[in-house]
Amino acid sequence: MSLFVTFEGIDGTGKSTQINRVRDWLSAEGYDVLVSREPGGSELGEAIRSILLNPHWKNMSARTEFFLYSASRSQLVDEIVKPYLSKPRAIVLLDRYDDSSTAYQGGGRALGLEAVESINSFATVGLVPDVTFVLDLNYETALERRRLTGQNADRLEENNHEFFELTRAAYHKLCRRHPERMYLIDATNSEESVFAEICSILKSKLFSYAGSRK
Ligand code: TYD
Repeated sequence: MSLFVTFEGIDGTGKSTQINRVRDWLSAEGYDVLVSREPGGSELGEAIRSILLNPHWKNMSARTEFFLYSASRSQLVDEIVKPYLSKPRAIVLLDRYDDSSTAYQGGGRALGLEAVESINSFATVGLVPDVTFVLDLNYETALERRRLTGQNADRLEENNHEFFELTRAAYHKLCRRHPERMYLIDATNSEESVFAEICSILKSKLFSYAGSRK
């Protein structure tokens, strides 16, 4: 039995905090937990990440951006995620996965959700998460949280309000489209109650997935 869990949402929604808490909880339960992130996660992926987030590349086209994210993701899937999931009692927690491309490039950059999803599936050899949490927050609150934690804006975060609204709307659409695995979590709630909601969903998934994968 193994479980593949991804965390999504616009920048500043508190994904990293929740991922760390989930990792600590599941490790204490005796699971082998791997935490990784996108873009990056592998050595090659981290090199691609430094290009993607570098504010120098102001002229990067939307399709180039999408293919770079996809390239980083293919490497992560082949080198790290797939081999890890073949172990018993393995859980992979990913800070972003292909729904980020669908929301940011498909929605925010207007490449189209369907076009992006079809290439995602090629890039990931069809590896779909068992559970995806979309931490949902409006743009102003997310921006305020980023300011409070003193993060400098990377190339993506320099985008305007409209870009993030389009991205957020795409996440909402994806949650309606994939209700079997995608959960929209209200991230305006306290850290504690967001964690409790995530735990309760994961507990029921772990229960129903027990024995379904080797
Ligand atoms: P990162 O610093 O990891 O942000 P966060 O902590 O919010 O995940 O930067 C990743 C940025 O890349 C983030 O702005 C979202 C964006 N992104 C895409 O636009 N498309 C993608 O496919 C992925 C994986 C990320």
